[in-house]
Amino acid sequence: EIFEQPWSIQETVLGRVSLDAAQVFLSELDIADDQLRAVDRIVLLACGTSWHAGLVGKFFIEQLVGVPVEVDYGSEYRYRDPIVSPTTLAIVVTQSGETADTLAALREARRKGATAIAICNVVGSMATREAHGTVYTHAGPEIGVASTKAFTTQLVALHLLALYLAQVRGMLDQDAMRQHLHGLNHLPRLIEQTLERDGVIREAAQRFARQENFLYLARGIHYPIALEGALKLKEISYIHAEGYPAGEMKH
Ligand code: F6R
Repeated sequence: EIFEQPWSIQETVLGRVSLDAAQVFLSELDIADDQLRAVDRIVLLACGTSWHAGLVGKFFIEQLVGVPVEVDYGSEYRYRDPIVSPTTLAIVVTQSGETADTLAALREARRKGATAIAICNVVGSMATREAHGTVYTHAGPEIGVASTKAFTTQLVALHLLALYLAQVRGMLDQDAMRQHLHGLNHLPRLIEQTLERDGVIREAAQRFARQENFLYLARGIHYPIALEGALKLKEISYIHAEGYPAGEMKH
């Protein structure tokens, strides 16, 4: 499944970008442009790996759309009294579309009047039925417990959604949009090149296999990737691992 990423990312981008027109198309989103233009706050709701994707999504959306974004755990959201208004956009990120905590958060946001979008990999799942609109990831079935290709396609879907919101709200000129779309088109090849280095990665794994604790350090948009890296190691090896913002090490 790790090696399927070039394909799954290509599938997620396919038919959604036009370099010539410098445009993003999200046909299944089905939410009126006026409604998206009125949004003044966004909340990303998810659990686990999908929550890490949400943390990356915050960077994309705040940078491209200029709207404040909050990221909350699906498992926590309903236990506080979240501030939601009709101009709040709730984006739930869920690979399966069936995670009970994320569905509960989606229902809470909708109950309080938010417009809801699901980023999901499973057609017809509960999250896609309960949200107003959906952006599908096209990762294909993921059997491994440790989510990999589903996570990277979530990042791509969040990038596409941020570009789409920026487009609807007139936040990006054509050149800037083209640069992003070119990057997305080129991504499968870059991932292929990275995967071709699996021998180097195998050597590193052998070198560190006997360590008992791992710290994953990063900053900025890479900090959520450090969290995700630590989660992957914990999940599949039961070795203690933590993701940490690099700048916090001195504190
Ligand atoms: C970790 C993993 C989990 C899920 C989480 C949410 O590899 O897969 O952390 O991300 O349980 O699941 P979904 O995305 O289906 O809502």
